[in-house]
Amino acid sequence: GKLMLLFLIGMVFAECKSNVNRHEIRKIPEGIIFGTATAAYQVEGARDEDGKGESNWDHFTHKEPCPVKNCDTGDIANDSYHQYKRDVEMMRELGLDFYRFSLSWSRILPTSFTDKINEKGVQYYNNLINEMLAYNIQPMVTLFHWDLPQKLQDMGGWTNPYIVDWFTDYARVAFELFGDRVKYWFTINEPREICYEGYGATSVPPTLNISGYADYLCAKNILVAHANTYHMYKKEFQQSQAGTIGIALSVIWYEPESEEYIEAAEDARQFSWGIYANPIFSKTGDFPEIVKDRVADKSLAQGFSRSRLPELSPDEVDLIKGSSDFFGINHYTTYIIYRNSSSIFPTPSFYDDIGSVFYQKETWEAAASLWLKAVPWGFYNALTKIRTEYDNPPVYITENGFSTRGGLVDDSRIKYYRNYINAMLDAVEDGSDIRSYTAWSLMDNFEWTEGYTECFGLYEVNYNDPSRTRTARKSAYVYKEILRARQLDF
Ligand code: NOJ
Repeated sequence: GKLMLLFLIGMVFAECKSNVNRHEIRKIPEGIIFGTATAAYQVEGARDEDGKGESNWDHFTHKEPCPVKNCDTGDIANDSYHQYKRDVEMMRELGLDFYRFSLSWSRILPTSFTDKINEKGVQYYNNLINEMLAYNIQPMVTLFHWDLPQKLQDMGGWTNPYIVDWFTDYARVAFELFGDRVKYWFTINEPREICYEGYGATSVPPTLNISGYADYLCAKNILVAHANTYHMYKKEFQQSQAGTIGIALSVIWYEPESEEYIEAAEDARQFSWGIYANPIFSKTGDFPEIVKDRVADKSLAQGFSRSRLPELSPDEVDLIKGSSDFFGINHYTTYIIYRNSSSIFPTPSFYDDIGSVFYQKETWEAAASLWLKAVPWGFYNALTKIRTEYDNPPVYITENGFSTRGGLVDDSRIKYYRNYINAMLDAVEDGSDIRSYTAWSLMDNFEWTEGYTECFGLYEVNYNDPSRTRTARKSAYVYKEILRARQLDF
């Protein structure tokens, strides 16, 4: 008996040991390119230098009482307007294939319109692009990453249908100026956050807080502006510039709490990103049925004489359908979904339209950002959903990342990146057509209303230093090694 026990303990020990020593290597297949991302307002600074016009974020961050944590603003941010050479040096240190950044509309067109082009602002982007290309780092450019000219915001911003023309005109200027060298374009970054957080709620400008109404108007105008710009590029620039153009959606994964809530989770997904993805990528090319049904019926029951959801006319459906060369996704986290009797209130609001409750598990590893917890399998599920629901489109992962409170030893971020890249490779093995992976972010930056309190950078930025010194974190070395070796090892 005793001997048997010793034998068993020995077996268990040997088994554990072999697990510890097991060294697995997972190769990254050819064809996936790697980069990092930032956005204009979050890094550039130079708020009104060289003739830049005022954006809604310039305006918002200077309101009283200050709406951002610690009263932070992007006035100086990372000073990238002056430090672009250092930025490119970091890209070289990391060995990036590409860098995704955004253009500031009000820096290029200070009046908002095309009557005046700000040559000095244009020069900054030319300098950045040329410096990158000198080292064979491809520019991926987002036309709109949240900083809207304030004048356009005053005229209703994304609720005014004329924004379709304003945006298309601005995009044309950008293609004319930079399209000879820029081959990857994103029209709009995260419509969901722009519309629901800015027009339906109060977390970002214009903090309109007209939920269940302004957010849907915003959604429609964003879709039309995006699609109109897409077709303009195809018609006027595709032949001469031969680039690729699409949209970057915020793709959250919604996991049903139990089998009972599979439908509730799918409804939440449709309201969250199906509302943008279906018109562009599905065969029907319209808003999701559940959104149409729910909002239309409810509106009438609520005493409105028509649906709060604007219609997409047959012409608009045709314009929007297929208007993206790829599915761009920003993915960070997962929510668990359930429904109960208190989930649906008879009020006209976006969250009540969804009709479910969502939460995150305490056991999931938490980032510095309240909304962000590490759930790698959620990333796999989201990629799988895109493959099965939208006919396996080419996917550009345009953002993925994890926040800390700072410090150079960032093991939680390293773990996040390894596990999420691993989940992406699972999806690739299943047949997902993934073309790029982008870490958010190259460096710490202005995290919107959280100011500089949440750090997403592979590089740490010192905000006490006027030149905003950047220092590589441990995660920067790991990311560099993954890209160099083109493998994950465990
Ligand atoms: C997505 C947004 O595109 C980006 O601007 C933001 O900083 C990250 N999420 C992190 O919250």
